[in-house]
Parts: sequence; C-alpha cells; structure tokens
Amino acid sequence: MAESISIDKNLSDVDIYNAIIPQIQYLLNNDEPIISNLSNVTAVLMEAFNKFSWVGFYLLKENKLYLGPFQGKAACTVINVGSGVCGASAQTKDTIIVDDVNSFPGHIACDSFSKSEIVVPLIQNDKLCGVLDIDSHKYASFNLHDKMYLEIICRIITEKLNFNQINEILK
Ligand code: SME
Repeated sequence: MAESISIDKNLSDVDIYNAIIPQIQYLLNNDEPIISNLSNVTAVLMEAFNKFSWVGFYLLKENKLYLGPFQGKAACTVINVGSGVCGASAQTKDTIIVDDVNSFPGHIACDSFSKSEIVVPLIQNDKLCGVLDIDSHKYASFNLHDKMYLEIICRIITEKLNFNQINEILK
C-alpha cells in the first residue's frame, strides 16, 4: 500500500512541522523493520520542506556512524565519531546547527552545493544510536524551531522503534 502524506507547502515551517509530526507518528510501526520505518521518515521530511537538500540517518555501531536510509545525493558511507558535523553531534550528544558548512572545522562535504546543516542525535535508553542529518543548499537554513521540532521527531522515533535491530543489520 502506498503511504501518502498531505502537506501544504505554503505553510510556515512551524506549521509544516505541526502537520507532519502526527503523520510520522502514524507511519512508524515497530512491527516493521527499522530500516523501512526510517526510510519513510526521510521521505516525509524531504517532501515536506523545499529547503532540505539531503535528509538521512547515520546509524551507530562500535564508534562508527554508518549511512542509513536517506533521500538525496549519494553520501559518504562511514563517519568516525568525532569527525565532521555528524561525528561531533554523536560525540557530544547535542544537536548542532551549522550556518555555513565551510566554517565548520572538519566538515565532511558530500555535496559541494551544501551550504548549511543540522544534525540531531538519536538517543535510546541514554545511549546514542545514530544521528539525523539534514543539509540545505542555502546558508543558515536552520534555526531553533528546526532544532526543537527535529528533536521532537527524533524522540518520537526512539520511543517507537527498537534500535537493537541495528546491530543485526550493520554486520
Ligand atoms: N556533512 C556531514 C557528512 C554527511 S553529508 O552531509 C550527507 C558531516 O560533516 O558530518
């Protein structure tokens, strides 16, 4: 069955987040594989916001972040914790907003058109299990509203899905 979402792109970013959060809650189903669930989240976010150029998950195994479900251009497949924006967020377990990726020491450029980025950690039972990474082709695309709503979305994901499955998948 095709899952469809409805989003009015004329809404403000805050209104779009408020519209998609219940739809993400509805789509997540822990009886289905985590990869399928995370894939749908990337699709909803990418469809909802014109300002996003890349949306994806990096999933943690043994201190490395592995490319998971994503929408956008092909990206680097492995990032060490501590490297780049994703690795920095994984290390501190904090959301990082980068207004200009060129000014972030060690930024890993997967798409030369990428100008700004936000990375939100995924934490389950006090343990890091991955990050949500979103890029934009415009400078300073992300603000505290994006941080707040994307953290809510990541919390919903870690409350609904069991990330222990990731260890089996990332062999
Ligand atoms: N820019 C990220 C790497 C992943 S891509 O943006 C998809 C980083 O510096 O960690």
